[in-house]
Amino acid sequence: MKVLIIGSEGMLGHDLVDILSEENEISTTTIDTLDITDIEKTIETVKNINPDVVVHAAAFTDVDGSESKADLAYQVNVLGSRNVAVACRETDSALVYICTDYVFDGTKGTPYQEYDQTNPLSVYGKTKHLGEVYVRDLLSKFYIVRTSWLYGYHGPNFITTMLKLAETHDTISVVSDQIGSPTYTVDLAKAIAKLIKKPAYGIYHVTNSDHCSWYEYAQLIFEIAGKDIDLKPVTTEEFGSPAPRPKYSVLDNYNWKMEGFPKIRSYKDALKEYMQLL
Ligand SMILES: NC(=O)c1ccc[n+]([C@@H]2O[C@H](COP(=O)([O-])OP(=O)(O)OC[C@H]3O[C@@H](n4cnc5c(N)ncnc54)[C@H](OP(=O)(O)O)[C@@H]3O)[C@@H](O)[C@H]2O)c1
Repeated sequence: MKVLIIGSEGMLGHDLVDILSEENEISTTTIDTLDITDIEKTIETVKNINPDVVVHAAAFTDVDGSESKADLAYQVNVLGSRNVAVACRETDSALVYICTDYVFDGTKGTPYQEYDQTNPLSVYGKTKHLGEVYVRDLLSKFYIVRTSWLYGYHGPNFITTMLKLAETHDTISVVSDQIGSPTYTVDLAKAIAKLIKKPAYGIYHVTNSDHCSWYEYAQLIFEIAGKDIDLKPVTTEEFGSPAPRPKYSVLDNYNWKMEGFPKIRSYKDALKEYMQLL
């Protein structure tokens, strides 16, 4: 298949290029070759490539920064995603839109399924959700892939932040009252490679299995790294980030399972593999 990856220089984008190129003919765009906020350029680019599938992994991903740069987050995540959807409509391409667990408010208390009520708390979550709405309104051939707590080799992430902090701090405070599923970009890219082979369009939750708090996640990181760090559990309120985040945003990969795809491995196994290769 001919696959266009938009946002190919992002953390997920890099792994998408590596993994999807194994079985597909790949084209890529980066922010330098295509700014998705430019609707004409977006349509022209997608038309020239005429792909079977577009994987849209570009976004304004600074969750805290989105609170003070709401217009920019809206332009990229909402209007940019609309532009990509309009372009896919012109070429009849299927679209993979990458979305987030932050579309939920975290009050459910059990894992969220695909058609549970969304209620984003942050500007970032709201803009990512409105991107979904455009995709659903404009297209019939789409896969909305909601994922969470991403990490990979090609971008800064929670693990690299923890390891860096440990170089200069003996004690690190980590939030213990937000629960989610850390997800490895390699495993997500492999899942997307499987998904696009089937015209089983719709919304999918795709994360590594099992869940933890950021505090438990940090504990495991330092255990694997063999580093003795004094970790201090703190509440969200004590930590005090600009953007509100859901307390519990575990995603049940329900449609993924129902479609017959294999269970995605535990975040613990994925984390060990990632850290061995660091
Ligand atoms: N990271 C997470 O924990 C997480 C969790 C759930 C869902 N997601 C979603 O997963 C997807 C990939 O995330 P990621 O972590 O790989 O993000 P990332 O590393 O920040 O990559 C996003 C890419 O989009 C590019 N971009 C920004 N504005 C653009 C524009 N106007 N036109 C074209 N490209 C633009 C960025 O370029 P610059 O770097 O030059 O700005 C960057 O290369 C996103 O949709 C994100 O919302 C991420």
